Amino acid sequence: MGREPGGTVPEGIAPPPRPAGMPLAVEAVNVTRRFGAVRALAGVDLAVTEGEFFGLLGPNGAGKTTLISILAGLTRADAGTARILGHDVVADYRNARRKLGVVPQELVFDPFFTVRETLAIQSGYFGLRRNDAWIDEILHHLDLTAKADANMRSLSGGMKRRVLVGQALVHRPPVIILDEPTAGVDVELRQSLWGFIRKLNRDGHTIILTTHYLEEAEALCGRIAMLRAGRVVALDTTRALLSRFPGLTVRLTAERVPASWQPRVLRQEAGTFFLGLERHADLEGLLAALRTEGIGIGELALQEADLEQVFLRIMADAAASAKLEATA
Ligand SMILES: Nc1ncnc2c1ncn2[C@@H]1O[C@H](COP(=O)(O)OP(=O)(O)OP(=O)(O)O)[C@@H](O)[C@H]1O
Ligand SMILES: [Mg+2]
Repeated sequence: MGREPGGTVPEGIAPPPRPAGMPLAVEAVNVTRRFGAVRALAGVDLAVTEGEFFGLLGPNGAGKTTLISILAGLTRADAGTARILGHDVVADYRNARRKLGVVPQELVFDPFFTVRETLAIQSGYFGLRRNDAWIDEILHHLDLTAKADANMRSLSGGMKRRVLVGQALVHRPPVIILDEPTAGVDVELRQSLWGFIRKLNRDGHTIILTTHYLEEAEALCGRIAMLRAGRVVALDTTRALLSRFPGLTVRLTAERVPASWQPRVLRQEAGTFFLGLERHADLEGLLAALRTEGIGIGELALQEADLEQVFLRIMADAAASAKLEATA
């Protein structure tokens, strides 16, 4: 299928207004990237305004990390352009990189340095020689003060991830991208990490967050882009996304679902079905159909739509239209 000029953003709502002449914090225009036969990014457009707390969500392999690598100048796009605060990530790499802090998804570190040395070396990359006060503050906020002189190799996985967060922040970048920063991080640190990131956002930093913990994205992000198979399939405010599928989900444990209710199945996990209802009163119809077909109920629970439900529906719809496109 050909791509329409100008992007594939379906409900491309405008980002919040910004003063004329102000560059976007992050701008991607028709960014495309292939790895052999895999089309990791199929023409992605994004416009994130300064000061936003923006979520970038999508299933495994959707292209999130590829997009972040392009923004960080670690991977080149095959086509399209990307800018950080107006600086092209290729033509003006140094300035773009200086404005950006990235917490990478993969744990990469030098085992021979201590935590403090790791942060000091990172500062050095940005030409910052006297950065000790800020490094101390970062260590404090990430609850790493007690580990400041410990070797990186002696840290647990979650602690290493905290250091990665610290490394992204040493040069006080105005734009911060976090690629699954809370994977493997304990509950307590997750809370304090979000407190810290929220404070940075309040202080004016733009935050872009990738996470598979959708309740985290729901609580933190003002706007969310959902990526699937290298395309933006939804882009809206979190509030608008949540109200996109009003209604309820029924969690039903049964051997099967009545035939007439099959189209309402959102997903299935072993013997548990998740069905979409428009209103509470629809439950009567479901119960009647179960009775008529002689299907016994194991468990039944009702839940309001949350971001996870919305995400699953958007992904299911996108998969269905991709299939249609492929057979058209
Ligand atoms: N260096 C590479 N070589 C080959 N294929 C790659 C490479 N990097 C990414 N890909 C492929 O590109 C696609 C997008 O990968 P990417 O890592 O961007 O996904 P993601 O959305 O970050 O997924 P996850 O949620 O698992 O982190 C996948 O199909 C992946 O296998
Ligand atoms: Mg990734």
